[in-house]
Amino acid sequence: MKIAIIGAGGREHAILKKIASPEHQLFAIPGNAGMDAHCVNLHVSDTKGIVAFARQTQLDFIIVAPDNPLVAGLVDVLEDAGFACFGPRKSGAQLEGSKIFAKEFMQRHHIPTAPHRAFEDLQEASAFLAKSHFPVVIKADGLAFGKGVRVISGLEEGLAYLKALMVDHLFGESGCRVLIEECLEGKEASVLAFCDGLTLKPMLSAMDYKRALEGNQGLNTGGMGCIAPNPYFTPQIAKECQEKIFEPTLRGIQAEKLDFRGCLYFGLMLTAQGVKVIEYNCRFGDPEAQTLLPLLQSDLLAIMQACARQELAKQEVRFAPLHACCVVLASEGYPQDFEIGHVLSYPKELDICFAGVKHSAQGLCNAGGRVLSITSSAPTLQQARALSYTRIAQISLKNGYYRHDIGQL
Ligand code: AMP
Ligand code: GLY
Repeated sequence: MKIAIIGAGGREHAILKKIASPEHQLFAIPGNAGMDAHCVNLHVSDTKGIVAFARQTQLDFIIVAPDNPLVAGLVDVLEDAGFACFGPRKSGAQLEGSKIFAKEFMQRHHIPTAPHRAFEDLQEASAFLAKSHFPVVIKADGLAFGKGVRVISGLEEGLAYLKALMVDHLFGESGCRVLIEECLEGKEASVLAFCDGLTLKPMLSAMDYKRALEGNQGLNTGGMGCIAPNPYFTPQIAKECQEKIFEPTLRGIQAEKLDFRGCLYFGLMLTAQGVKVIEYNCRFGDPEAQTLLPLLQSDLLAIMQACARQELAKQEVRFAPLHACCVVLASEGYPQDFEIGHVLSYPKELDICFAGVKHSAQGLCNAGGRVLSITSSAPTLQQARALSYTRIAQISLKNGYYRHDIGQL
C-alpha cells in the first residue's frame, strides 16, 4: 500500500515506525529528516497541494496527525476526493478546534467538567472576572499552539491576559472568544481512544509532563516526556471514566452527528469530586503517541483502517502489560527562542523518534524545539525509566536539554 502521514514531529515518526513494513511505501508530508519515509515538501495547510500529491501518487491511505489541518477540514476534502483517511472530519475536530464548542457539548451531554462562562465581549469578561474567586483559568477559544491556557491568580493578571487575547490578539482569531473557568485540582491523566463514531476503544492511560523544567516548573511546552500507564489511573477510575465520560461522549458524537473516525484524546483531571474533562483533542498527543504505540500489540494500520470504515467493533486493540517511559530531548531555550544547526551524535542502533531535525553535511542537526524522543518499555516503570535515561545519555547535542524526572513519582 501507499500510505502518507501528514505532520512532521515525533508523533508522526512513532506512527510511521509502527506501520512500517516491506509491503508498504511510506510518505510523510512534510515529515522530517530523521524519518525512514519519502518526505514531501508541502505544508500541512496546503490542502490543494496535498490533494494533488495524493492523486498523482494514488495514495491508498492517509493519516492526518496534527490539529491544524484536522480542524481546517483536510479530511473532508481528501475523503470527498475519494481517499481513505484516519482522522476526524471538521465536524468531529470541533471538539478540539473550539474550546467553547467542547464545553457546550459536555454540558449538553452531562459530561463532568469545570464550571465555565464564555465571552466575546471584553467588558463582560472583565466584569465577570472582577467577581471571581481566584485562581481561575482563562482559555482562548481556538487553537493556540497549546499555549492559549493560563492559570490566573489575581484580577490584575487576569485583566492583562484578557486584553492580550481579545484586544492585542496574541493568538489572532483564536482569542476573540474566551472561556473563564474554575481551576481544578488533582492529578492529570490523558486517555487516548480509537473511535469510529460507533465504537470507542480506549488505549492505556498516560501521564504527560507539560512543563519545561524539572519539578513541573517553567513554561508549558508541547510535552517533555510521558509515561504509560498512568500510575494514578486505577481500575476504579477507569470504570468511572467509561461510564461518566467515554460512553456519554460517544453518545454525544452520535446524537450530534459529528463525524469522528480517528483518535479522540481525553485530557482528564482526577479531582476529589471525581474525574473531570479538561479538554478534548482530536488526534494523538505528542509525546503520548511515542509512549503508547510501542506497547500496542495489535496492528495499528488495521485499527486505523477499521476506524475509517467504521468497523472498529471487530478490531482488536490490545496493549502489552508493560510500562513505557518517554523522554524528550529539546533545544535549550524551548519553548521560547533557541539556536538551531547543532549536530547530533548518537549510536546508530538507538531507536529514536525524531522531531525537529534537518540534514547537514555532518549528519542530522537540530532544527526545532523538541528535537527527538526516546521511549523504553519494561515490566516496571522504574526499569523503563532507567533504560530511557541510559539511552538518552548516549546522545549528544551541544544545546540539548531534557528533564531528569520523567516517571519519578
Ligand atoms: P488545555 O490546553 O485545555 O489542555 O490546558 C493546558 C493545561 O492547562 C492542562 O493540561 C492543565 O494542566 C491546565 N488546565 C486547563 N484547564 C484547567 C482547569 N480548569 N483547572 C486546572 N488546570 C487546567
Ligand atoms: N502532549 C499533549 C498534546 O499533544 O496535546
